[in-house]
Amino acid sequence: MKTLIVEKIDEKSLSALGQIIKNDGIVAFPTETVYGLGASAYSENAVKKIYEAKGRPSDNPLIVHLADSADIPKVAREIPEDAKKLIEKFAPGPFTLILKKQPNIPNIVTAGLDTVGVRIPENPIARAFIKAAGVPIAAPSANISGKPSPTKAQHVIADLNGKVDAIIAGGDSTVGVESTIIDVTGEIPTILRPGGITKEDIISVCGRVKIDDTILSGLKGNETPKCPGMKYKHYAPDAEITVVEGGQKQTADKIKELVASDREKGIKVGVLSASHDEYGADLYIFEGINNQEFANILFGALREFDENGIEKAYVQMCMKDEMELAVKNRLYKSAGYRIIYAGE
Ligand code: TXA
Ligand code: MG
Repeated sequence: MKTLIVEKIDEKSLSALGQIIKNDGIVAFPTETVYGLGASAYSENAVKKIYEAKGRPSDNPLIVHLADSADIPKVAREIPEDAKKLIEKFAPGPFTLILKKQPNIPNIVTAGLDTVGVRIPENPIARAFIKAAGVPIAAPSANISGKPSPTKAQHVIADLNGKVDAIIAGGDSTVGVESTIIDVTGEIPTILRPGGITKEDIISVCGRVKIDDTILSGLKGNETPKCPGMKYKHYAPDAEITVVEGGQKQTADKIKELVASDREKGIKVGVLSASHDEYGADLYIFEGINNQEFANILFGALREFDENGIEKAYVQMCMKDEMELAVKNRLYKSAGYRIIYAGE
């Protein structure tokens, strides 16, 4: 398939993209969290193509994207009080609400659930694209299933060129991790996936919040995930990732020791660290004064390790702030829960 790469957003390109969606095509587009791969949420035929292009298991539901919160009743049949408050304060923005679905949303979008994930992205290109499509857009992240989510146009092109109808090459994602998923169908708003809207943000408008137990521990044995995506392998680069957690000095010292021992065995080692230090690794990616900056470069860094043939990589996790949960959740998954505590 020939993929149309769109670099300029104007009336002409938007109209062409709208037409692709109307013809049941699939389009990758930038959002402030990560790039998405979108199709008409009303078309079973179009949504099927998303699962195929990504190689995604079809029991993992998609999020439905809208340009405006006024359109929520088109896809959800109930909007609880907590949802209204969150929308009023944070929409458009990096969060997804789990709501009771309208019957016109096909089962393929929600993987047969009675609920639907609804998100109103803030990115102006995303909103212009959704408006041009004229329908709600079902979209997962625009990566091959299992790989880190794309935060740059080049990541999407690497994964999906030739497999989708169009890719909008917008700028880099500013949040860098996927939206916070908040289930508002129960008594207490519950975070199923942490992200740019933090638990502190939710408490500030709803007064209370629950955090799903599996966010930092993964699923145990035969547990059924509330968010079906939890049970799949995620963000898994070819390099074996280990998270080294604790105080800044302790984690840096531990990483130096691990790197030296791997180097002795001839292993190609990478380090993703928050602090400038002399690690002696083959590839260094230094970043960040807080976890938001860490989130920004995280998925790109995981891809960079692979591009450079890194076999083992150590990630320093020593910063404590509101974005810590979102970063740790992704890191732990990418490391397959291989975590070393270096002490405080
Ligand atoms: O920031 C984001 O959310 C990005 C951009 C493109 O908007 N999208 C994204 O989609 O991350 P995806 O498909 O990679 O992740 C969606 C997650 C999955 O873990 C899925 O299981 C969960 O949302 N999900 C979708 N619908 C759900 C529902 N009705 N109930 C519970 N979880 C749901
Ligand atoms: Mg994804």
